[in-house]
Order: sequence, then structure tokens, then C-alpha cells
Amino acid sequence: MTVPTIAIIGAGNMGSCLIHGLIQNGHPANKISASDSTEEKLSGLASIGIQTTTDNLQAINHADVIIFAIKPQSFHAIARELAAYIQQHKPLILSIAAGIRESSIQTWLNGDIPIVRAMPNTPALIGCGATALYANRHVSEEQHDEAESILRSVGIVIWLEDENQMDAVTALSGSGPAYFFLMMEALQQSAEKLGLTQETARLLTLQTALGAARMAIESGKPLEELRQNVTSKGGTTEKAVSVLEDNQLRAIYHKALTAAKERSEELAEMMEKL
Ligand SMILES: NC(=O)c1ccc[n+]([C@@H]2O[C@H](COP(=O)([O-])OP(=O)(O)OC[C@H]3O[C@@H](n4cnc5c(N)ncnc54)[C@H](OP(=O)(O)O)[C@@H]3O)[C@@H](O)[C@H]2O)c1
Repeated sequence: MTVPTIAIIGAGNMGSCLIHGLIQNGHPANKISASDSTEEKLSGLASIGIQTTTDNLQAINHADVIIFAIKPQSFHAIARELAAYIQQHKPLILSIAAGIRESSIQTWLNGDIPIVRAMPNTPALIGCGATALYANRHVSEEQHDEAESILRSVGIVIWLEDENQMDAVTALSGSGPAYFFLMMEALQQSAEKLGLTQETARLLTLQTALGAARMAIESGKPLEELRQNVTSKGGTTEKAVSVLEDNQLRAIYHKALTAAKERSEELAEMMEKL
């Protein structure tokens, strides 16, 4: 695979996180350019050797891959601004904008463009993201690999065959960090009520969450088996788990994810009407 020239439109949280991920993974700085509406966010990036500009058209000049890392509501106008150049050169478009369907991007860029849609999540900011990718039929094998290697620089990557699954992904891993933060908040608060100091409760909560996730990843065992392994008959864990099950924890999660998925569908439909 030849090293692609990558342009990032929008050097905010996600855009700069991808730039740092790429550099850490050995992508040459002189093969990266970034644009943003203000100089402020670009000055730090210029110091790592990438080309920076406030002119989006200049940033995408000679790019093999253009990453759209702007807010969903800005996408339409920027896509329109760059459509003529993109039509002429047909680079890979990699969109990380939540809730914008491939068909919307295709329409805004006047059609027949290779597009990969990505749904990363906030832990990407610390290199621990989970990203789902979907490629349209214009994406070549090489572009497929390029998109995967860009997102892999900030975490794990999975491919979806069907773009409709992106709404379920948004509900699971996109919004997911908030579910775990809420759960950890609740556990910490409960432990404080049971007499632990805030610091002790926080530390034990966080390390337990990290330990459980790492055990699940490293052992590769089914989650049910791991849960049963720490749930001895007549013990303390069994008591707690039965309270959670009796109070419909699984049904609550399903209701929550369904609500998030439906909202994701609604937002995508709104963007499609632009
Ligand atoms: N953050 C996440 O965890 C996450 C997860 C999944 C997907 N995403 C998606 O990632 C995208 C970026 O999110 P973010 O959190 O990184 O947003 P962000 O921090 O606001 O970054 C967007 C950047 O684009 C700049 N911008 C605005 N208009 C522009 C223009 N016309 N040309 C060039 N740059 C422009 C913004 O500048 P100003 O601030 O001056 O407007 C800002 O620096 C969003 O579409 C979001 O849905 C984010």
C-alpha cells in the first residue's frame, strides 16, 4: 500500500485525535494536511510538521483521502464548497460525522464518490476507541484498507455490511461511554452511602470496571461465563445480581438502546432533508 496523502477538514477533538493517532502510527507528517475555521486550533498541529490552513480547498489539494471531521450540521455547506474538486479527483471521503448517511454525502458531492462512513467514540481521544465502518460500492480494496488503518490508529475497528446497522452502533458504542460513566457514578455513590470515602469509592469503582473489561477482552470467554465465575451460590454477588435482575436491568438497557437507536434514525432523516 502506498502511503496516502490525508486531508482532515475540522481540527477539533476528533480531527486532531486522528492526526495524533496517525503520527504515532508512523504516518509521515508531510503526508497530512488539516484545515479549520480558525488558526487557533491549527497552530499546535503545525508544530508537529503537518500542513495547516484555514482554506479547505487548499487542504484537500492532492489528497488521496479527505476526512470530514466537522460537526454534522456544518457538513452540508462544506461538502457543497468542495464538491467540484472532489468530483474531478475522486479521492476517498471518510466521514466521521454522526448521523449523516452515505446517501446524503453522495447527494451533496453530486454522486459516484467512494465514501466510507465511520462511527468512532470518545475513548478514541486516548487511543482506546471502538469504530464501526461502512464502505459504499465505489470504495476500492486499497481505500478500504486505508480507511481501516486510519481509524485503527485510535482503537479497534469493525466493518458493517449494512449501513442501517450504524444506528444500532451509535446506540451501543457511540453513546456507550456515557452508560458506563453513569453506572460507575451510581456504584461510587452507593459505596459512599455504605461508608467508603469518595476517593476510595472512586478508585475501587474505576479499577473494577477496567479489570472487568480487560478480563473479558483477554480471556475471550462469554460474558455470562465470566459473571457466573464470580457468582458463588449463596454469596454476596449472587444477592446483588438477583436484585439487578429482579429490577429488570436487562429490559432497562434494551429500552435505553432502543431509544438511542430511534433518535439516531430521526437525526439522520433530518440531515437527509437538507
Ligand atoms: N467527539 C466524539 O466523541 C465523536 C464521536 C463520534 C463521532 N464524532 C463526530 O466527529 C465530528 C467532529 O466532532 P468533534 O467533537 O471533533 O467536534 P469539534 O471539536 O467541534 O471539531 C470540529 C472542528 O471543525 C471546525 N470547523 C467548523 N466549521 C468549519 C469549516 N467550515 N471548515 C473547517 N473547519 C470547520 C470547528 O471549528 P469551530 O470550533 O471554530 O467551529 C472545529 O474545530 C462530528 O461530526 C461528530 O459527530 C465525534
